[in-house]
Amino acid sequence: MRARPAAHAFVVLGATGDLATRKLLPALYHLSADHGLETVVLGGGTRDLGDEEFRRRSREALTAAGYGGEAAAAWCSRHLHYFPLPADGNFGPLASRLAALEAQHSLPGNRVLYLALPPQAFPAAISGLGAAGLAHSRGWTRLVIEKPFGSDLATAGALNELVHHHFTEDQVFRIDHYLGKETVQNLLVFRFANPLFEASWNRDRVARVEITVAEDSGVGTRGRYYDGAGAIRDMLQSHLTQLLTLVAMEAPVSMAADAVRAEKVKVLRSIRPLDPAAVVLGQYAAGGGTAPTLPAYRDLDGVAPGSNTPTYAAATLFVDNWRWQGIPFHLRTGKGMRERLTQVAVTFRPPPVCLYHGRSDPCVAHSNVLYLDLQPDEGFRLEIEVKEPGPTSRLRTVPLRFAYAEAFGRVPEAYETLLLDVVEGDQTLFVHADEVEESWRLYQPLLDSDLPVHAYPAGSWGPAAARDLLLDAPNWAAGG
Ligand SMILES: NC(=O)c1ccc[n+]([C@@H]2O[C@H](COP(=O)([O-])OP(=O)(O)OC[C@H]3O[C@@H](n4cnc5c(N)ncnc54)[C@H](OP(=O)(O)O)[C@@H]3O)[C@@H](O)[C@H]2O)c1
Repeated sequence: MRARPAAHAFVVLGATGDLATRKLLPALYHLSADHGLETVVLGGGTRDLGDEEFRRRSREALTAAGYGGEAAAAWCSRHLHYFPLPADGNFGPLASRLAALEAQHSLPGNRVLYLALPPQAFPAAISGLGAAGLAHSRGWTRLVIEKPFGSDLATAGALNELVHHHFTEDQVFRIDHYLGKETVQNLLVFRFANPLFEASWNRDRVARVEITVAEDSGVGTRGRYYDGAGAIRDMLQSHLTQLLTLVAMEAPVSMAADAVRAEKVKVLRSIRPLDPAAVVLGQYAAGGGTAPTLPAYRDLDGVAPGSNTPTYAAATLFVDNWRWQGIPFHLRTGKGMRERLTQVAVTFRPPPVCLYHGRSDPCVAHSNVLYLDLQPDEGFRLEIEVKEPGPTSRLRTVPLRFAYAEAFGRVPEAYETLLLDVVEGDQTLFVHADEVEESWRLYQPLLDSDLPVHAYPAGSWGPAAARDLLLDAPNWAAGG
C-alpha cells in the first residue's frame, strides 16, 4: 500500500490545452476521488479566463472523460483556479497568486509545476519560473516537462542546461507517458521477477526483438506541429527507444530510480551508431487498405506543400554489449498504418536439432515468440508448440495468454500513474537528463541525413522499401 501523498498545489502551465483537458484534469480528479490526493490546481493559459470559466470548461472535460455528476462538479468548484499566463514572461504575479492560494487552502508549500505547453514555450516558462523564485518553496517543488524534450541533440542539451540553471535534476520529471503504462512497467517485473524468462533473455536464446508503435489514424489537425517534428523526433527517439532500453537493460541493483535509470543509460551508450542503410522512412499518401478515406499527409492543413517529413520510420539497431552482441532490434513506427498496435515481440531461437518434419517442410518446429502488448489491449502472450491430438506428429503453435483487463479489471491510465509518482517524488518512470541526450545523440545522424522518404498508402503496413530491411522480422511479415 502506498502512503497518502502530501497535500500540494498543482500548477499547470497550458491548462486549457488538449493534454490538460483530456488527460491531466481527469487523472487529477480520479486520483483525488479514489486515492485521496489533496491537490489544488492553478491552471494557466494564454487566454484571459476567470476561475468560473476555467471550472466550467474543466467540468465539460471531466464529463467527456466519464466523470460527470455532482462530485466532479464540486471538486472543480473547490479545487480549480485559473490565471492568464504573462505575455512578458514575468511570473512574479503567478508566485503571489500561488502563495495566496496556499494560504487559503492551508497547504504546506509543496508544488508541482507542470509544463503542458507547446515545446517552443518551454525555455521562456522555465526561465520565468526560475526568475520568479518558483524553483524553491517551503516544501518540495517538482518541475514536470512534457515531451518532446528538445528537437535534436543541441536543443536538448541547451534545454537541460537551462533546466539545471534553475532546478536540480532530482526536481525534474521529464515525461514519456509510455513509461506510465502498466505493460511497460510490467516489462521489468516480467524480466526480473520471473527468473525463467531472464535466464533466456540474451543472445544465446533470443534471435531478434521487434518493437512496433503503429497508429491507424493520421496526423489529423496537428499538421503544423507534426510537420516540424516527424516520426523520428515524435516517436522513434522517445517512445520506441525507451521501450528498447527496458527490454535490453541489465538488472539494476535495486528498483530505485537512480539504479534503473543508470542501467537504461548504459544501454543507450552501447547502441552501435545507426547505419543509414538500416533505416527506411516513409510518408502516407491518400488512403487505401483499411483507411480508404484518410487524406494524404501532404494535403493536411499546416503541412508545407511538398513536405518530406516522415510519418513512418523503421530502423534496425544493435546493442554492442555482452548480452546482446549481434542480435537485431527492429524498431518501426508509423501513422496511417493498417492497425493500431503497440507491441514488443521477442523471438527466441528455434530448437538446435529438428525432430519434427512435415511432408514438405524440412522442419515444422517454430520459434517461441513472446508478445508484450501495450495497445490496444494490455497484456502478453507466449506462443508455444504443442502436438495436435490423434495419430499424427503434427505440431500447432498455440498462445499462452494474459490480459490485464481480464485479470485486474480497470487498468490505470498512464497519466494517473505518472502524476501520482510525481507527487510521491518517485522518478523511476521519468527520463533522466543523460538518457534524453544519449537518445538524441543516437538519432542525430539520421536527422542530419537526407534519406529518401518513400510514399505508402494510408491503411497499409508502410512503404514497400521497408520489406528488405525487415526480412529478418517475420512477425511483421504480414505487412512487411
Ligand atoms: N495532446 C496530447 O495528447 C499530448 C500527448 C503527449 C505529449 N503532449 C505534449 O504536451 C504539451 C501540450 O500539448 P497540447 O496538445 O495540450 O497543446 P495545445 O492543445 O496546443 O495546448 C497548449 C497550451 O499551452 C498554452 N500556450 C500556447 N502557446 C503558449 C505560449 N507561447 N506560452 C504559454 N502558453 C502557451 C495554450 O493556452 P491557450 O489555449 O490559452 O492558448 C494551451 O493551454 C506539448 O508539449 C505536447 O507535445 C501532448
